Amino acid sequence: MNKLIIEGGVPLAGDVRVSGAKNAVLPIMAAALLADSPVTVENVPHLHDVTTTMELLGGMGVSLMVGDKMSIEVDPGTIDAYRAPYELVKTMRASILVLGPLLARHGRAEVSLPGGCAIGTRPVDVHLQGLEAMGAEIEVREGYIHARCSRLKGRRIVMDVVTVTGTENLMMAAALAEGTSVLENAAREPEVVDLARFLRAMGAEIEGEGTDTIVIHGVPHLSGTRYRVLPDRIETGTFLTAAAMTGGRVKTLATDPELLESVLLKLEQAGARVNTGADWIELDMRDRRPKAIDLRTAPYPAFPTDMQAQFMALNCVAEGTAHIIETVFENRFMHVQELMRMGADIQLEGHTAMVRGVDHLTGAPVMATDLRASASLILAGLVARGETRVDRIYHIDRGYEGIEEKLARLGARIRRIPA
Ligand code: EPU
Repeated sequence: MNKLIIEGGVPLAGDVRVSGAKNAVLPIMAAALLADSPVTVENVPHLHDVTTTMELLGGMGVSLMVGDKMSIEVDPGTIDAYRAPYELVKTMRASILVLGPLLARHGRAEVSLPGGCAIGTRPVDVHLQGLEAMGAEIEVREGYIHARCSRLKGRRIVMDVVTVTGTENLMMAAALAEGTSVLENAAREPEVVDLARFLRAMGAEIEGEGTDTIVIHGVPHLSGTRYRVLPDRIETGTFLTAAAMTGGRVKTLATDPELLESVLLKLEQAGARVNTGADWIELDMRDRRPKAIDLRTAPYPAFPTDMQAQFMALNCVAEGTAHIIETVFENRFMHVQELMRMGADIQLEGHTAMVRGVDHLTGAPVMATDLRASASLILAGLVARGETRVDRIYHIDRGYEGIEEKLARLGARIRRIPA
């Protein structure tokens, strides 16, 4: 198993290009199943989760072709199986995103029920209830969701919790349903908006994406298109936080500041100077130590749970004490114990972490437990005295394209070694 070795203490400096968003490309590749002709997706990041999605679609008989300029062509016309096997779903929960498209387009699907996960129990009840309301017959047996339907019917669905992939699954299903669907209490994340735009490019009739009520008028067919996925706001935020922690100056390129308002506000409160243009963000924290920042995660447009671990790392070396409240996932504090092994002063009480900033962290061998936790350990390693070894970095490869190369170009002393 590969490890990352980091020698801390270098303020990051320079430009870094942001990749396409993981959490947009996964639903968009699944939505390609709805089309009658090939779809080309551009700005696809080179990530393990994308490879898993290709394996998942390829296993159903879908033809895939990797093109130049980070594009993938998905031809759903050759599909001959309607199953997402446990072996893939257990490695990537987002596999559940094929359920809505398979049902809407082919009237059948067998998808392994995702199990628990390091960050929480993460049920999919809202996905299933919504599809049942649209007329699907669903049975869970032997660990699989077995679903069947004739043409789905548009419905008004009030979702019990705000769920990103739940909203996406129902929106994809509703795109080919008969009649109008109204999704209430919908997720407003930019990746949901990107999926709606992609569906519209294929011929879907959707209004209200980006608000909590999405209206979808079902159409009988969707056709192939070419679509460029939006930039990864979490990757952007991770590099900016790294710059803030190390007292550096970094410009993120090919991104979109409008996707990160809550995060940029917090970075400014921490003392950073932030400048933005149409597709770039520059952060300057030279010669300054960050100030402690309280935060509370919640669905978009509030502070994202996917940036909580990175801000925890920042608070570990900030001036003052911060309270971090995680409201989205019940167990997303796995990085706390690892950060404490590096000298952080953190007290956990239920969903709240109290972080007292320390003068410095010390390098240590640490273990990544999930994607964003891995990012926080790398960030901590960048400021720690001495050497940090991050183990189990396959988590980071799921969601960050070439992270060590991008950080090394900003001056970080970081390298990957085979175990
Ligand atoms: N929930 C339910 N029932 C459901 C669905 C969700 O109770 O049927 C609960 C979850 O247990 C959780 C909350 O609702 O407590 C929100 O979960 P959500 O469904 O929104 O999460 P998700 O769709 O499974 C996506 C991202 C996550 C990100 C969350 C929250 C993708 C592929 N994944 O997950 O990304 O943390 O939304 O914003 O879009 C990551 O990139 O590191 C990551 C984990």
